[in-house]
Amino acid sequence: MRTHHCNQLRESHIGQTVTLIGWVNSARDHGGVIFTDLRDREGLTQCVFHPEENPELAKLSHTLREEDVVQVIGAVSKRLDGTINEKIDTGAIEIVAKQLRIVNKADVLPFQLDKELSNEDLRMKYRYLDLRRARMSKNIRQRSVITSAARRYLDESGFFEIETPILSNPTPEGARDFLVPSRLNPGRFYALPQAPQQYKQLMMVAGLEKYYQIARCFRDEDLRADRQPEFTQIDIEASFIGQEDIIGLVEGLLGSMFQAGLGVEIPKIFPRMTYADALDIYGSDKPDTRYDLKITDLTDVFASTEFKIFRSTLDGGGVVRAINAKGFAGITTGQMNRLNEIAIQAGLPVKTLAFIKCEGGEYKSPLWKFFTAEEKDLLVSKLDIAEGDIVFFGAGSRDSVSTILGRVRTECAVMMELNKNSTAFNFLWVVDFPLLALDGETGHWGAVHHPFTRPHPEDMEKLDAGDFGNVRAVAYDVVLNGYELGGGSIRIHEKGLQAKMFGVLGVGPEEQQIKFGHILDAFRFGAPPHGGLALGLDRIAMLVAGEDSIREVIAFPKNNKGADLMANSPCLIGPKELRDVYIQSTWKDPKLAQEKAVQ
Ligand code: AMO
Repeated sequence: MRTHHCNQLRESHIGQTVTLIGWVNSARDHGGVIFTDLRDREGLTQCVFHPEENPELAKLSHTLREEDVVQVIGAVSKRLDGTINEKIDTGAIEIVAKQLRIVNKADVLPFQLDKELSNEDLRMKYRYLDLRRARMSKNIRQRSVITSAARRYLDESGFFEIETPILSNPTPEGARDFLVPSRLNPGRFYALPQAPQQYKQLMMVAGLEKYYQIARCFRDEDLRADRQPEFTQIDIEASFIGQEDIIGLVEGLLGSMFQAGLGVEIPKIFPRMTYADALDIYGSDKPDTRYDLKITDLTDVFASTEFKIFRSTLDGGGVVRAINAKGFAGITTGQMNRLNEIAIQAGLPVKTLAFIKCEGGEYKSPLWKFFTAEEKDLLVSKLDIAEGDIVFFGAGSRDSVSTILGRVRTECAVMMELNKNSTAFNFLWVVDFPLLALDGETGHWGAVHHPFTRPHPEDMEKLDAGDFGNVRAVAYDVVLNGYELGGGSIRIHEKGLQAKMFGVLGVGPEEQQIKFGHILDAFRFGAPPHGGLALGLDRIAMLVAGEDSIREVIAFPKNNKGADLMANSPCLIGPKELRDVYIQSTWKDPKLAQEKAVQ
C-alpha cells in the first residue's frame, strides 16, 4: 500500500512520485491550504493539498481529522525556505499531494496523543491508542531490539532456545500460583509456572547442556511498579559450568542488550559485593550504588555510652548505625513525616527516627545532650558531619537496623533527587547469599532463592550441624541502579543432597515424592553439575527506556489490581463453564452477583 514509510524521504527523493499510508497526526489549515503530518510507526511526513492544483482533492483534504487512516500519492518536493522543520528527519521535504484516499475515518479520540496523560486507567482502557504515542512506540521498539540482541547473543554462544510447558505444576519460587482447573482430570489443577526452574534443570539431565528461553512467568503476588502478575524472563541454564561462567555470560549478554538498545558501552566486568556487605552498607540486597549515603556502624563510638537506649541495644548484641544525608538539614516537616512513616513500615519500633541536624554551627537533636564530649567528637569525625547535614540513627538488631536504614536511605535519595542521574548504569553482582532464612511468622526455615540452590561448599559442615542461618549459597543476583535485574545459582544435582535440602525446608519424604519425585528421580540417572540464572526482561527494558514502571514497556500490562481494563479481564465465568471444570464458586459478592445476572 506504500512505496516508502513516513520517515524515509529526504532531499535526494525530490521529484519522485511516492505513495504513503498512515494516520493523520495533525491537519492544519493555512489560508485554505491543508497541511497534514502523516504518521506511521517510523515517523512523520508533511503532505500538502493545494486547491489551485486540484480543487476536488483540496476539498476532500478539508474533511481530514486526526487519526484518520489515509493514503496519499504525491510528488516529493523541497519545502520553501523558512518552513524547514529541523525537528523531524523528513523536515526538508513535503509531499505535494496528487491523490488522497481516506481509508478509514477515526472518531474523536478519548484523549490527545501528543500530551502526557496522568489518568492511567484511561490510558489502559484505550491501550491501543496509548501505544500510538511516540514515547510508547519507542519503548516497544526498544524492547524488541534488546530482545533480539539477547537471542542473537545466546544463539551465538551455543544456547538452544527451548520452550517449556505453561500448564504445569506449582513451582516453589516464593509467590502464590495461578491455578487452572483440568476438565479431563476432575478435581485436579495445573499451575502456571512462576519460572521454568525445574524444567530447565531436567533439560540439563537430558543432556541439552545450554538452554535459554524468553519465558513467560506467572506469579500471584502484590504488584508494584517493577512487578506484574505475568512477566518475562530471559531464562538460562547450562551444564558443566560454575558461577564465574554464568557471571561472564550474563555480563556479555547485558552488554549486547544495552549496546543494541541504547548504543552505550557498559562495563565488561561488573563490581561485586557480598550479600552481607550489601546489607550492612546499603541496607538492601539490591543497592543503588549511584549515590553514597552509606550506613556507618557506630558500635565503637558508643562502646561505653551511658545513653540508655544505645547501651541496652549494644549490651543485647544489637548495633547502632547511622546515615549522614549530606546537605539535607533543610528537610521539610512533610518530608520528615514521610521518612518516619517509611521507617515505621520497615519496622521502626518507635514513632520517630532519631536524628542530628547540623545547622548554624549547632547540633540540633533530642539525643545530643546524652552524648559525652568524646562521643560527640568521634561521631562527628566518623560520620564527617558538617554544616547543613542531617544524620539518621538506627539502633536494634543488625537485620532490623539494615532494613530500616536501607529504606530511609532510598527515600532520602528520592527526596534529594540523588537517583535522578539517568545516564549512569551502576551494575553490581551481589554474591554469597544466605541459603536459608527463618520465617518470623511460621518459625520454619525457607529457601532464600529456591530449594534447588546449591549450598556453598565451604559451609556444608554448618548445614550438617544444623547451623542453617550461617550457610551461604552459590547464588548471585545482578543489580542495576537499585533494581534486581536477575538472579540465579549453581544447583544441587545429587539426589541425596536435594532430599536433605527438602528435609531442612520441612518437606517430608512422602511430600517430596508427590511434589518433586520427578526431579529426585532424574537426579538418580547421571545428572550433570549445572546452574543458571534468569533476567527480568521487563525490568531491563524499563531501565533501557528510562521509565519508572515496567507497565511502560509491556504492550498490554495489568493494573495494580491485576486487571486488564481494556479487555476487562479477569472476567466472570458462568455457572455452566464452571461446572464443566468441576468448580463451584463460593464468592458471594452482591455486586458481582448482579453483574452476573445481567450477563
Ligand atoms: P527470580 O525469582 O529471582 O529467579 O526471578 C528472576 C528475575 O525475574 C524478575 N521478576 C519479575 N519481574 C516482573 N514482575 C515480577 N512479578 C517478577 N518476579 C521476578 C526479576 C528477577 O530478578 N528460577 C529463578 C532463576 C534461577 O535460579 O535461574 C527465578 O525465577 O528481575
